[in-house]
Amino acid sequence: MKRTLITLAALALALVSVKAQPVVTQADKDRAAALVKQMTLEEKCKLISGQREEFYTFPVERLGIPEVLMADGPQGVRAIGRTPTNSTYYPCGIALAAAFNPSVAAGVGTGIGYDAKARGVGIMLCPGVNIYRSPLCGRNFEYMGEDPYLASETATQYIAGMQKQGVMATIKHFALNNQEYDRHAVSSGADERTMNEIYFPAFRKAVEQARVGAVMTSYNPINGQHAAENSWLINDNLRKWGFEGFVMSDWVSTYTPIGCAMSGLDMEMPNGYAMNYKTLKPLIDNGVVPESVIDEKCIHILQSFIAYGFLDKPMKDSSIPEDYDVSRQLAYQAAVEAPVLLKNDGVLPIKGGKILLVGPNADYVTFGGGSGAMHPLKKYEVTLYQGLCNLGKKYNVILRNGIPGNEAELKSVNTIIVAAGFNKNTEKENSDRKYALDKDQENLIDEAVATGKKVVVVVYSGGEVDLSKWGDKVNAIMMAWYTGQEGGRALADILSGKVSPSGRLPFTFWGSLEKNPTTPFYHKAVLDESVYTKHEPGRYASRHAKYPFADYGEGVFVGYRGIKHFGVEPLYPFGYGLTYSSFAYSDASVAKVADGYEVCFTLANTGQCEATEAVQIYVAPQSPSIIRPERELKGLAKVKLAKGAKQVVKVLLPMDSFKYYDIFSHDWVLDPGAYNIEVAASATDIKLSTAITVE
Ligand code: GLC
Repeated sequence: MKRTLITLAALALALVSVKAQPVVTQADKDRAAALVKQMTLEEKCKLISGQREEFYTFPVERLGIPEVLMADGPQGVRAIGRTPTNSTYYPCGIALAAAFNPSVAAGVGTGIGYDAKARGVGIMLCPGVNIYRSPLCGRNFEYMGEDPYLASETATQYIAGMQKQGVMATIKHFALNNQEYDRHAVSSGADERTMNEIYFPAFRKAVEQARVGAVMTSYNPINGQHAAENSWLINDNLRKWGFEGFVMSDWVSTYTPIGCAMSGLDMEMPNGYAMNYKTLKPLIDNGVVPESVIDEKCIHILQSFIAYGFLDKPMKDSSIPEDYDVSRQLAYQAAVEAPVLLKNDGVLPIKGGKILLVGPNADYVTFGGGSGAMHPLKKYEVTLYQGLCNLGKKYNVILRNGIPGNEAELKSVNTIIVAAGFNKNTEKENSDRKYALDKDQENLIDEAVATGKKVVVVVYSGGEVDLSKWGDKVNAIMMAWYTGQEGGRALADILSGKVSPSGRLPFTFWGSLEKNPTTPFYHKAVLDESVYTKHEPGRYASRHAKYPFADYGEGVFVGYRGIKHFGVEPLYPFGYGLTYSSFAYSDASVAKVADGYEVCFTLANTGQCEATEAVQIYVAPQSPSIIRPERELKGLAKVKLAKGAKQVVKVLLPMDSFKYYDIFSHDWVLDPGAYNIEVAASATDIKLSTAITVE
């Protein structure tokens, strides 16, 4: 049985063909239209909103339309309605991005698909893909980093894995929801090119490549208009990309009946606060809202439900166990590829002997708070302490709340591990977080350093933390994200050397808030509380005039794209991460092929152990026709090599890799000319560069 499970898990890890998705057919559209013709206005007004327990849609039993259950992700199936359900707790979005290996995201999407089917969930409210601009955003942990290409590749595989199981994914939060501070009110402002090159791509690729079934709009206004009531966003962008699914609002993010009805919003969640029979009937009777607009919403919803078989077969598959070994395997395989080793003076892997393990996350599986907070099956949770102990005699691990005072206990300790970071109360939805670790954690690190022992700090977080007070004093730093119930086992395997770390930074680790090009445009507008008082929780009538604008003034130069443009050097660049080995890159060539360019190079493992390298391919225009970032990520290859082995690696760059968004044609256009095709180990560590001329 064990071998079968591993085969199943391994299968799920392969890249999922995006052709394996349920897609809306003409027959589905015709059937939906025929059903809507038979519905009363009252039934239609119910279908376009949520109902009981905030996570079910309305049924129309007489027409064979069932209620459909939705559930949060993105780290697993969180609840059945308002009732928490114990389910596999997977690594969070930023961890999947840090793996730099979209196939692990495919595995997690597959596992969540299994878990949802086992529980009768038809629609999962994930993945979240909002771009990382500042480490202060309280929901970075749920999302997939600063780079639109990495977020797109990771999200489309996650969606493909899930939807292949017949469970509909919902990509969120559309769009520009890149901070949590006063998120209902602060209006995100960005120009059209910035939106299309940075903030839309993950959503657009999810539509075009993975045929995502649903899109959730965000809380924030965009250029002054709330996302759920923003026709430019939904009708002039999303629908123009060929989206044939349905658009739901985020929970309690709707304001006016006409705004919602005429914006292209299809389903108001969690209930019909703005769009209901009482509010819509008079508007329809007076010709303000055509009934055809309501019909169109119902057709979008029903064609999606029909495409997923919701009207024709049960959404629950009782043949899948709610407690599924394969799901746990998939969670582990993602967790072991995510941690990023920032610093290591040779203390890692820990050879053996006595380890003192301290810190708030030493014996606790931590997670980010809010709608993504999971309730795993406790019997399977593996904390870091348990993971290290499970390695048997290799270590003698002592777990303490702090650094012991008496010399005797410390005497034979050779390594101290401080498991630091955040948790569901300090990094969560609906609030931004602090940049630095709590003072007591910084003091604990200082006390550990003062012992003179080797100190390894493991940081559980969704983004960069302030290293200025302690980063230089410790021997190793590992970013551990929130890697779910298998995280303790995976991290113990890495710290012990059973597996080499292979994660890479999915965002730029600037080293201070001041160095981050986003900071003047993130904090000035929304965190200067001397000029702005936060709104009280709850809905705000559309007093847009009073909303502050978070002006995305860094434009397309967000993250590593801003290094040359703003002349700032990061502490640790995007794409950076150490392994326990070393790699040599050689013999690069770039050849024109049918639909783009094929990059070919040789990678050799020149170190002392098997390891996995996350190779990045950047495209760097030499004389762009408009101002553009120095380089942009356009290809990935994650390659495992035994000690001494070498491999020829090929990566395809489709022609889209050489385009920018043109605001005059409102479309992507090819930028012909000279480019450097860069094979790299990070955004600032270019190993090989080949010049080409794109016609
Ligand atoms: C939350 C979140 C959204 C979640 C929804 C349902 O406030 O913004 O991501 O899916 O409401 O819980």
